[in-house]
Amino acid sequence: MTGDTRPIGVFDSGIGGLTVASAIRKRLPGQPIIYFGDTVHLPYGDKSVHSIRGYIKEISSFLLGQNCSRLVVACNSASSVLQKDTVVPGFTEVLNVIDPVAACVASDLHIKKVGVIGTRRTIQSHIYKKRLLKLREDLEVVELATPLLAPMIEEGFIKNSIAETVIHTYLDQLGKIDALILGCTHYPLIKPQIESYYQGSVLLFDAPELIAENLAGVSELSHQTVSIGTNHFYVSDYTQSFEETAKLFFGEIIHLEEKLLF
Ligand code: DGL
Repeated sequence: MTGDTRPIGVFDSGIGGLTVASAIRKRLPGQPIIYFGDTVHLPYGDKSVHSIRGYIKEISSFLLGQNCSRLVVACNSASSVLQKDTVVPGFTEVLNVIDPVAACVASDLHIKKVGVIGTRRTIQSHIYKKRLLKLREDLEVVELATPLLAPMIEEGFIKNSIAETVIHTYLDQLGKIDALILGCTHYPLIKPQIESYYQGSVLLFDAPELIAENLAGVSELSHQTVSIGTNHFYVSDYTQSFEETAKLFFGEIIHLEEKLLF
C-alpha cells in the first residue's frame, strides 16, 4: 500500500514556514510538499486581520488547485486569525501551528509561568493565552511582541552581534519564566541563540516537530521516500537572497518559482 501521495500544502509569509516543511520532510519523506511563501505581503505580523484572512483565502485556493490533501498554516500570525470559512473548503484537514504547542505546554504540569513571543498580530490576538488558560487555568502567561525578529531572520541576521543584542533585549523583558513558546515559525531559526541566553533554565516550545508528529500519526499518508525535487516551492516575490536562505535552511537543493496569486 502506497498511501495518499497527494502533496501537503504548507504556507507562510516567508521562510519561517520552512521550519515546519523541513520537519515534515524529515518525519514523512514519502510525502510531497508544496510550499508557498507569500513574500509580497511579508511581514504578516503587522497586517490587519482582514488582510491576512484575504491572503489565506487566496493561498489555500491555490494549494487546493495543486491537489494538496492537507493544508498546514505554518504561520502563527495567520493561524491566530484563522476561522472555519477563512480557508477554501476541500482539504481533508487544516492544521494550525498554535493548538499543538498550547496542548504540549499545558500537559507539562511542572510549568507554572510561560512566556510567549511572536509578531504583533499573534500577541495582540492573545490566542496562546486563551488556548493555554482553557486547558489549564492555573497557568501564568506573559506575552511579548517581538516584531524585529522575523524581518531580522529573513535578512539572515542570525549569528551576528546585532541579532544577539535584539534577542537579549527582548528576552530581558520577560522576567523569570519556566517555559517559552516560540510563537512564530521564523523563531526556530534562532533557537540556539535563545537556548544560549537561557542556559537550559527555561523549556522552549515550538511547532515544527509537533506538526510533523501529528501528520506522521495519520495512517493513510505515504511513508515511502520521494526523490529530491518532488517538492515544489513557490514565492509571491522572488529574490535571490530568499532562495539562498531557503536552501541553506531547508538543507537540500530547492528551486523557487515565482507565483503572483493576487
Ligand atoms: N512566520 C510568521 C509567524 O509565524 C510570520 C512572520 C511575519 O510575516 O510577520 O507568525
